[in-house]
Parts: sequence; C-alpha cells; structure tokens
Amino acid sequence: MRKRFLIGLLGALAFTSNMDAENLIIMETDNTALVYDVADNNRLYQRYFGKKLKNRADYSQIPNTSEALITHGMEDYYEPAIHINHDDGNNSLLLTYVSHEESQLSDGANLTVITLSDPVYNDEVKLYITYYPEHDIFKSHTEITNKGNKPISLEKYASSMLHFTNGDYYLTQFNGDWASEANASETKLEFGKKQLDSKLGSRADMFCSPFFQIGLDSPASENQGDLLVGTLAWTGNFRFTFEVDHRGELRVISGINPYFSTRTLKKGETFTTPEFIFTLSDSGRGKASRNFHDWARDHQVYKGNENRLTLLNNWEATYFDFDENKLIGLIGEAKDLGVDMFLLDDGWFGNKYPRHSDTQGLGDWKETANKLPNGIGALTEAAKKNGIKFGLWIEPEMVNPKSELYEKHKDWVITLPNRDEYYFRNQLVLDLSNPQVQDYVFDIVDNLMTKYPDIAYFKWDCNSPITNIYSNYEGKNQENLYVDHVNGLYKVLDRIQEKYPELMMMMCSGGGGRTDYEGLKYFTEFWPSDNTDPVERLYIQWGFSQIFPVKTLAAHVTTWNRQSPVKFRTNVAMMGKLGFDIKLADMTKEEAEYCKRAIRNYNELKPIILDGDQYRLVSPYEGQHAATMYVGKNEGDAVLFTFDIYPRYKSGIFKSEANVKLDGLNPDKKYKVTEIDTNDGKNREIGEYSGEYLMKIGLPLFTGNRLNSRVFTINKV
Ligand code: GLA
Repeated sequence: MRKRFLIGLLGALAFTSNMDAENLIIMETDNTALVYDVADNNRLYQRYFGKKLKNRADYSQIPNTSEALITHGMEDYYEPAIHINHDDGNNSLLLTYVSHEESQLSDGANLTVITLSDPVYNDEVKLYITYYPEHDIFKSHTEITNKGNKPISLEKYASSMLHFTNGDYYLTQFNGDWASEANASETKLEFGKKQLDSKLGSRADMFCSPFFQIGLDSPASENQGDLLVGTLAWTGNFRFTFEVDHRGELRVISGINPYFSTRTLKKGETFTTPEFIFTLSDSGRGKASRNFHDWARDHQVYKGNENRLTLLNNWEATYFDFDENKLIGLIGEAKDLGVDMFLLDDGWFGNKYPRHSDTQGLGDWKETANKLPNGIGALTEAAKKNGIKFGLWIEPEMVNPKSELYEKHKDWVITLPNRDEYYFRNQLVLDLSNPQVQDYVFDIVDNLMTKYPDIAYFKWDCNSPITNIYSNYEGKNQENLYVDHVNGLYKVLDRIQEKYPELMMMMCSGGGGRTDYEGLKYFTEFWPSDNTDPVERLYIQWGFSQIFPVKTLAAHVTTWNRQSPVKFRTNVAMMGKLGFDIKLADMTKEEAEYCKRAIRNYNELKPIILDGDQYRLVSPYEGQHAATMYVGKNEGDAVLFTFDIYPRYKSGIFKSEANVKLDGLNPDKKYKVTEIDTNDGKNREIGEYSGEYLMKIGLPLFTGNRLNSRVFTINKV
C-alpha cells in the first residue's frame, strides 16, 4: 500500500524547516491553509484550517483550537484520536513536539512530517500531511512507533483529526444497501457524537460509503457555502467520528475502525495508518467534487489520465447459463455494437463443483469443461478475430464450502472453530493475512495471464463481508485480522500491478461494496451498484460523483426498468464509463441502431465527459428532472445531459426558473447549442447564445414527458 508513497519520498528534497517566530507550521494550497502551532508547553495545536490568508503573519492572530491529535488519558474529555496502553498499566499518552520536516514530492505535492513523542514512554507519532496546491487537496496519516522497551497496545490509531469552530455543522452521509448505494442525506450535528463506520471487513462499504461532507455554518449546497469533504483511502473497516463539544467545536476523527482491532507493537515496531483525503470548498459541493476529480485523475486512480474501454458484459444477458457457442455469439454482438471489449462474467469455472449458480465452485479457477471445452483461449481468440479485447470476472478472495479449494485448504478460510459456519451468499472469505493465501490469490491472476496473455481486463468481485471472524494464521493475534487482511490484499494487488502494468481492472463488490481511493490505486474503475435501473442510477451516480470522477464509475445499459426507453438508459450510462449488459435480441432493430450511434457519440464525447469538469446542474433529489454537464478542460466544448423522470403534468416546465442554467462556460464567448443523440439520428440546432446567457438565463430544455432524456453539445463558435 505504501509503495507508491515511498517512491514519492525518495524523489523528494527533504529539508528541516525553520519554524517562524510564532512557532507556526503553515501548509497552504492555492485556496486553503492548515496551520499548526507548537505552544509554550511544547504540544501541537491546530491553529487554523480555513481560507488561505494573503499575509502569513495574520495566522498568528488567530486563537488556537484544540490539541491537533487528542490522546487518551490527558486533559481532554472527548473522543481521542490515539489511545495507547503501556505495559505498566499507564494508559495515557502525552505527545510533545520533537521536530518537523517539509519537502516537495516528485509529483508536485508538498509534504510536512511532524514528529511527536511521549517524553516518558518514548512512543513516537509522526503526522504526515501531504498537500496538492493546485487541487486544494490534503492527505493526512499517522505512523506510530514503539520506541520504548516494552510492548505497547494500540487501541485507537486515527489517520487524522480536524477541529472546526463554526458553531453550526451539517453532515451529509452516503449510505444504503445492495442495489441502493450512496443515498445522500443531511443532518445537523448537535452536541454529542455521531459515527459512521463499517465492520464488514471485506465488502466494507455495503451499507455506508467511506466519505462525507460537512456544511460549515450552513447546509451544503451545490455552488455555495463552506464545505469539508473527506474520505478514507482504506479497503476495509473505517470509522468517522463527528463530535460537537460543549463549546460548539466540531472534532472530526477519521481512520481505520478500531473495533476488534487493538494491535500490539513490539519494541521498534511501527504501524502506518491509511490516508484520510480531504478538501475545503468555499463554493459548495460542486467545487469540492471537482477538486477531488482533478486530483484523483492526476495522482490517485490507476491510469487516471488514460482512456477507458466501452464493453459488453454477459452477466444479465445470460447469468450462469452459457457455453462457448453462446459466448462467441455475444462476442460477435459486441463487435456489431461497436464496443471495445467483451467481458465474461461469473460462471465459467469449476469442474468437480461446476459454477452453475452462486452455491458452488468459488475457489476452483479452471474452466468448466462442458461449458468451455476449448478454454478461455477460444474466447480470447474469438475476441481477437472480431477486433475487440477480452475481459474476465474473478472473485479470488472467496471460497464456496462446496469447492475443491475448501476441501483441500480449510485452514486458509476465515471460519470460527467450534461453531457452525454461517454463509453470506453461500460463501466464505479467504484469510489474506496468511502469505500462502496471498500467493494463491496472486497465482489465480498470474496463471490466467500466463496461459491467456490476451486477457486485457479483470472484473474483480468480492461478494461477502468477512463472516465467522477467526484466522488460523493469526493465532493469538486475532484482533490483527481485519487490518492484516486488507494489507494482504494490497500486497497481492501490488504484485499484480508490478507484473502486469497494462492490465485494467474493475473493483466490484456485490455492486458498490468497495468504493475507496486506496482500491482505486489498483483499479481503473468500480462498479457502483448492481441496480442499473436508470432512474435509480441517476441517484446512485449523483452520490458517487460527489467524490469520484465519472471515469471511475462503470455504468451499464441493461433491461432493468424496461419501461424506460433504451435511449434513457443509455444516456444515464453515458454519464460514466459506458458499457452494455444486454442482448441485441432484447432490443428492436431501431433500438440497436440507436445504441450503435450512441456508442459512436460517446467515443467522440468521452474526453469531455471522462476528463472534463463536471457541473451537476439539477439534482434528481429535487424532484422530477435532473441535469449534469461536462466542460472540456481549458474552456473547451461542453456536453449536457437532461432527464425528465416522472414529471407531473405541466409541472413547472413553463416557468422561467425551470430553465436549465448552465455552468463552467466563458460568459464572454458565444456557444452553439445542438441536440444530438436523437432517436432518428438527426441533430437539432437549438441556437447560439453567449456563455453569460446560458449561465444566467438558461434554456427550457426539460419536457413534460416521462422517462425522457436529451443530450446537447455546447460548442464555441
Ligand atoms: C456480483 C456483481 C455482479 C455479478 C455477480 C456475479 O453481484 O456485482 O455484477 O458479477 O456478482 O455473481
């Protein structure tokens, strides 16, 4: 996990800074400043986190908030960020300032490392703050080292703690369930504590996505107001604690969920926490999202600035019911449609226990002989002949009890001794804390790639949370399992990335059960939800687009919500990484022709949609319509999508305020607006307008029709 970070550090120019007279440590991006103060008692306080001030000396006039990292057992009565138990029974931690270093990383970021230490027990805590000036993005994590002589136990080990003194705080969370991910809801935080967390282990984000927004002073809106947005880059249990104290100060603690995860550090051992990534926007959610999107494409997402492949997936077209002939037929359909790749989903493996349903076969990664007598090779060949690429579904971290793997290696399975096993989706999780299991999981990919080097893509699934929590490998250290399991996964993914750098992969977890930025260092995209009803997807994609660039949101056209036109379904999917999971036989000739044109349109518009700036114009949460636009970088041309969901008769569409007001354009330039992607294939000119007109007055683009969608290009003239 830390590898890339270390490379960055090696390329860094490290130097120890001279702290200014005021003992301030100042970290500034283009618009934001995070300032710490080493006070007279030699402890570290958060002085300020807010809008950057022109004159650095002004920071010294701001009063301090609380201690930067609150520790257990000292003078503060609220939730601590760090809690260490010592061997002699003293469970407190006093952190005093030792030194700090500032450096520039090779990717343009700045890094400040502040070293704190307990003067009696010598526990050392290093606070790392990395910040990207042009993106206004900060990252924070801690490194805790036992520099004493006796073992210590880490009970709480946050990555970040932030303090706010605005008085009013409005939390937006994103939670749901399978097929209903990332629903946004906002609540005012009052005195006391609110926590968002996960204890699911592997399919960690099934109920709650690992990100949040906090409107400071006022509720969040799309274009106005001060807003904190944060996310934990960790593919496992996370916890965010929001606590408002008796004075109205908000403390935000972010990190791994310490639930059943106390760790012992022997003398000299270090524990590194994952990165908490955050931004402060002074113009609401839209700007915060764009900060994240730009930063993520440039610095975090695997192949973040590279192209993405359109595809045809067979999951909903066939489920488990396929054979070589059927698949070769679908590969032909993929070519006819004009997509870049065919993706074979679940159901291709297992012989003693053929994978004819989700009840068996997981773990036995050999092609089922009577379904695929000529192996995957026949399929990669067929794809090649058709001039498209081939992708394959795997779920390598899991096992069905009905499998040869389980029969042979029950010791590799996370399962409780002396208890009946219970199953989530008929399966169990393999113990990735065990290096042998890591080798086995790596080998699944390595063997497939060695035998079939033409595989271009994997859909990597993870359909179960960690159940029956017990590791044969961890022995007496059971509480290490949740964390070691995730780090084991990263070790495997590191090896895959190193050996197969060209491979693209989709992170999937029974829909959107894994949606985090550490995962996206390895995966080019993720599957937000199994729910592909386009109306539901408007909400789900709205939720995830708050933090992830749409380039990372896989979106497929399927037969969910058949009453919605194929065009509506396709237009929703075009606002992400477009794919199809539908048989041509499920469409009329006209619909199929429409899809082919839509793919051609998408290919042309892809650089704007996937790499441009996203402006969410009208929220589906507001009612009956939705609109989002994408503006090419450097004042480029734009694309606008509008949707009429279930509008009531004459519902507001004739009022001027119902005009769709555009955003992100140059007010002084003229633009030609054209409706494209129509059912009859003919473009319709809407007119020429100034950028100012389009942004201040807008255009009446919504209609009263149900499940209606429109796509417009906005080109400079
Ligand atoms: C999960 C995924 C689906 C599909 C199935 C296959 O549910 O989210 O897209 O791949 O597994 O079993």
